[in-house]
Amino acid sequence: MHSHSILFICLLLVQSFTQAQPKPSDCSDPAGIVPLNPSCWTALNISGYVMKWSTTHSSSCLPGTPFASCFLRTLDMGQEDCIGITSSTCPPPSWIQYKANNISVEDFYVAYNIYSVYTFFNGYYTAIGNARSAATDSIGAIVALLDPPKKTNGVLNDLLTALSVGLSFLAPDAGPLVKAVVTGFQQAPSVAKYLFPVGTLDTQVAQFDQIANSMGTVTTYLQHNVTQALAAIQNDTATFLAVTGSGNFSVTPVPTISDQSDSILTALNTYVISQCLQANNWVIARAIDTDVNELQANGSAAGWDIPNCGKGYDGQSRCGAYYFNKAIDVSFTLTNNGDLSKDPTKAMDQLFANWTTPDQLFNGAAQCQAQGGSAPVVSTGPSDVDASCLSNLKVCTWDLDPSHIGTQYEFTDCGTQSGVYVDGCKGCPDGDICVNVPYSYIGNYLTYTGWGLTYDFCIQNGNIIVPKN
Ligand SMILES: *[C@@H]1O[C@H](CO)[C@@H](O)[C@H](O)[C@H]1NC(C)=O
Ligand SMILES: *[C@@H]1O[C@H](CO)[C@@H](O)[C@H](O)[C@H]1NC(C)=O
Ligand SMILES: *[C@@H]1O[C@H](CO)[C@@H](O)[C@H](O)[C@H]1NC(C)=O
Ligand SMILES: *[C@@H]1O[C@H](CO)[C@@H](O)[C@H](O)[C@H]1NC(C)=O
Ligand SMILES: *[C@@H]1O[C@H](CO)[C@@H](O)[C@H](O)[C@H]1NC(C)=O
Ligand SMILES: *[C@@H]1O[C@H](CO)[C@@H](O)[C@H](O)[C@H]1NC(C)=O
Ligand SMILES: *[C@@H]1O[C@H](CO)[C@@H](O)[C@H](O)[C@H]1NC(C)=O
Repeated sequence: MHSHSILFICLLLVQSFTQAQPKPSDCSDPAGIVPLNPSCWTALNISGYVMKWSTTHSSSCLPGTPFASCFLRTLDMGQEDCIGITSSTCPPPSWIQYKANNISVEDFYVAYNIYSVYTFFNGYYTAIGNARSAATDSIGAIVALLDPPKKTNGVLNDLLTALSVGLSFLAPDAGPLVKAVVTGFQQAPSVAKYLFPVGTLDTQVAQFDQIANSMGTVTTYLQHNVTQALAAIQNDTATFLAVTGSGNFSVTPVPTISDQSDSILTALNTYVISQCLQANNWVIARAIDTDVNELQANGSAAGWDIPNCGKGYDGQSRCGAYYFNKAIDVSFTLTNNGDLSKDPTKAMDQLFANWTTPDQLFNGAAQCQAQGGSAPVVSTGPSDVDASCLSNLKVCTWDLDPSHIGTQYEFTDCGTQSGVYVDGCKGCPDGDICVNVPYSYIGNYLTYTGWGLTYDFCIQNGNIIVPKN
């Protein structure tokens, strides 16, 4: 038989074990053809084993000894402290050595899960620490780019919320572990309290240009709580099983999350961007049931030229100053209440290249507004964790109804921006009626064909020129 056929059969075997429930005997040799894996937790009845162990060994350690320490000391295989952060006394257990010492595969699974929980939380702790300097850089750059007024304050507790929800933005390989931790919250709420702390920081505020410097306060706080979360999980069998009982910590290698501080910061960056944009008078404007590129290509305003939006969308579904969300058929943009001529395109290019996604910034704000929310909140569902209102910019909806033309009506749900629809905007040729609209306007003037007029659009600064008949 060729070696690749052997490999193929092995893959089939492994695949069938991961799909169907393996038999206990399939799980008896984690160094063999079926390596350590989540399904073996149930096949070997590890949860039952742990519960039975704790009743039969309740007297084998001093009162107050955490479960994990007691378990490992009883095995005496060189692991002792898998509770603290960055202690070096929690090496991975080796099945070869366990086997050589006649230690059961059940004991090995428990020891491995103690190690794997420890490794996951240590990685998370380190990632938060790394996020401190990454956040100082990214927030500094965002503030430099968006330049919010100096006296604008940010709430440290909102930063903490945005940082803590970064857990759900970890790379996909950590997904099942995050899911297992979050699922465990239902049975062990104390762990959720530590990982998504709403604490004493909520009275502290910092000026925006100082927020980068305040990140140390926020990261240290969350790190302290993550340390407590690890200790709580390893402390007693009920909490330990709440988190490991799905089997999902039975993976090798444990995903490396210590270097994922950029992913962890996505939510925080979104929050900071939203706050800075808001402080600078930006609001989100959206056109419902509108594909802005199609409107440009095939719409009734055929002569209308949207800068950089003629050739369809880029990989982020953006063109020029717009983001089109195909799933909901809405085109989003930013418009500035303080200066209608402001073009947000360059800022959007930088924000979406480095720090957040159009979906988080635009859709996130729309969802926040629909829920009537304001400050960021974390919600933990039965198996996932979600944050709302990381982006909480005000969202206004362009009025697309041509019959409203002339009624000074710009949005269906926000007041008219100051300076809109003033006759005689800059560049208006003699004899024309000119209507001033914001840079990224997509409202009813674009499609209006009444009055027997053909419209002629002056794209400069978003001014629309309506010719007299
Ligand atoms: C799992 O182990 C526990 C404790 O030994 C036992 O009570 C329970 O019946 C076992 N469950 C299964 C499905 O074997
Ligand atoms: C393991 O068990 C076998 C068979 O019972 C025995 O011969 C051997 O000495 C044991 N090894 C250790 C390290 O206890
Ligand atoms: C374990 O991970 C798998 C794969 O991601 C997932 O489908 C399952 O829901 C997880 N189980 C729990 C209890 O989190
Ligand atoms: C999180 O850590 C902070 C800082 O050490 C502490 O004040 C706070 O009580 C902790 N939160 C919880 C839920 O224990
Ligand atoms: C640890 O577990 C013990 C025994 O179950 C319990 O009394 C104690 O409160 C727990 N400590 C923590 C920090 O959860
Ligand atoms: C414009 O309409 C034509 C014909 O229906 C279609 O093929 C094309 O994809 C449309 N363009 C856009 C940008 O939607
Ligand atoms: C943002 O991303 C671009 C392109 O990926 C890169 O060239 C630039 O240096 C980044 N800027 C910052 C401040 O990180």
